[in-house]
Order: sequence, then structure tokens, then C-alpha cells
Amino acid sequence: MVVDGKQRQRNTLLNWYEANRRVLPWREDPSAYHVWISEIMLQQTRVEAVLGYYERFLQALPDIPTLAAAPEDQCLKLWQGLGYYSRVRNLRKAAEIVVSEYGGVLPPEPEKLRKLPGIGRYTAAAIASISFGKRIPAVDGNLLRIWARQTAYAGNISANSAVREAEQFYLPILPEENPGDANQALMDLGAMVCLPQRPRCTQCPWEADCAACAKGVPEDYPVKNSAARRKIQKRTVFLILFNGAVALQKRPDKGLLAGLYELPSAEGHLTRQQALSWLRRRNVEALRIERMPESKHVFSHLEWHMIGYRVLAGAWPDPPDRYIFATLRQREEEYALPSAFAVYLNQADY
Ligand code: ADE
Repeated sequence: MVVDGKQRQRNTLLNWYEANRRVLPWREDPSAYHVWISEIMLQQTRVEAVLGYYERFLQALPDIPTLAAAPEDQCLKLWQGLGYYSRVRNLRKAAEIVVSEYGGVLPPEPEKLRKLPGIGRYTAAAIASISFGKRIPAVDGNLLRIWARQTAYAGNISANSAVREAEQFYLPILPEENPGDANQALMDLGAMVCLPQRPRCTQCPWEADCAACAKGVPEDYPVKNSAARRKIQKRTVFLILFNGAVALQKRPDKGLLAGLYELPSAEGHLTRQQALSWLRRRNVEALRIERMPESKHVFSHLEWHMIGYRVLAGAWPDPPDRYIFATLRQREEEYALPSAFAVYLNQADY
């Protein structure tokens, strides 16, 4: 028999699951109601924290009609301590809809499940595969991480396109029979082996297939999105007021904010003493110096974390050539000033 790569991965995954699966109450009797409750509780919450809540919830509200008829206060009380309380409000609302539209029984179609409050693409796929045997990958954070490492995916996994690509990757791995087991095997693999930090690659049934592992850098995947990788630059911005005008300088013709005008600034966060020395080196006689608020400006690859000083200059015998002095009208009409400085320029008028 020829076994292709995906079939081999399916076999190694299911064998691993057989030997290592976690014993979890919703796996004992995976009715749609049980899986639904467990999946909603497991959003943003660890399995160990969920177990007690799951038992108490089902004891009090054993089926969908009972949940639909329960007072909201009772539902909230059963949820107390789990957090994200909109989850339980949505559960109750959805139960009412299931009673009125589907006779109290969850529909097996993921498209119908997704119309219910609180059920998204992942949760619908989890219920449809685990309880109704539909061959649909349930791509959560665990499955995204495993996929990104398997394929050494260089893109950003937060994009919708990444979820779609991961679904394509997993679909051929899901068996016809009990596809929900393969989904849950992947969830366990992500929770026990393919960990975000210090993955246990030697225990992984897919180690030989893993592109990130082959490169020797599994932890480098998923690639951090650009927000997480942005460089942070601390700056001290000077708003120097002189003769009814503000000192500006032109930025270089190349690079960030090329050719725009800016307030003079120094690298780092200067103390008042350091700021006074900085001013003295530029021949400014500071009559008054006041701290301005902190401000952050986010570029795609960089963040400026700024503090500022508002300086009233008395005499300025020999200002550096690069400075120009702009009145309010000139600032508004002649000089392009990036919004990064808006907070500070708003304090220019006196
Ligand atoms: N996390 C979310 N759903 C899960 C499931 N069914 N089993 C294990 N972990 C999960």
C-alpha cells in the first residue's frame, strides 16, 4: 500500500493521540451541547481552570432548553471567576435561538452554528467535527502554531489568509471517521509538545516533517507580527519658542518622514539638567523650561516614545543654521509637519 505524506502524518498523529491524549470530561460524552460549553469555556482559559466550572455548569443546566430558560443571574453566577462574561450571556442567548429555531437541538452545519451568538469559525468547526463527524479543521492558536512550524511560514499568522492556508494544510490529514479526534489530537499536541516556548520536539510525532525544526529554530515560528517586532526609539522633543515663532528643522531627504519638518529632538529621554545642557550647546538662553506630556507615535516598523520640553527662549544670538523659525501661520500653511509632533505643537501657542 502506498502511504502518502499526509496519510503518514495522519497515522503518526492519531497513534500519538492514542498514547498521550488528555482525559477530559467533554471527551467522555461529546454531545454537541457538551462540546459547545467546553469550547466556549476554553476560549482564553486554560483547561485546568475550566474543569470545575464545566462540571458545575452542566450539573445546574444539563441541556439546552434548561440553559435557555435559566435566569441570566444564575448563568453569570455559574461563570463567576472565569471572566469574559459576554461568553455566558451569548451562550444563553444562543440557547434561546436553538430552542426557538431548531427545537432545542444544535444544528450540525457549521454555517448555521456560526450564526449563533458567540460561535465563530473555530468553535463551529470544533462542534461540527467533534460532535457531528464533519471533516473540517478547527484552527485555533495551537493549530496555527503547529502549522507555522511545520511549513516555516514566514507571514503573519494573525491574517485571515493564514487561517485559510492552515485549513488547507490540515484538511487532507483529517480522517473520514472521527475527524474530531484529529482536531483534538492537534490541540493536545499544541498544549503538550509544540509549546510556544521550549517546544519538546523530540517527543513530536511530526518532528521529521517540521521545516522549522529542520532549520534548528522552532521557536522562531510563528514569526512575530510587525507590532511585536517594532523597534522602540526614545526621543526628547524640544518646542523652542522664540520671537513668536517655533524652531523647526527639515528632516533628511531619505528615510523616515523624508523631507518633512520636525521639532528638534535628542535621542533618549533627557532629564531637565541634560535638556538645559543640550540647549546651551545650541546657544539658547532658556527663560523657562517645562516638561510636556509623554507621547507615543507608532510607525509600521518603529515606535517613538517621546517626552518633551517646552522652552521659552530669551536671547538666541547664533542659532544653528539648520533651524528655521515658523510662526503659527507658516506652520499651518508652509511647513509639512508629521502628526507625530501634534501633541507638542498644540502647546506652541503663547
Ligand atoms: N482547547 C479547546 N478545545 C479543546 C479540546 N476539545 N480539547 C483540548 N483542548 C482544547
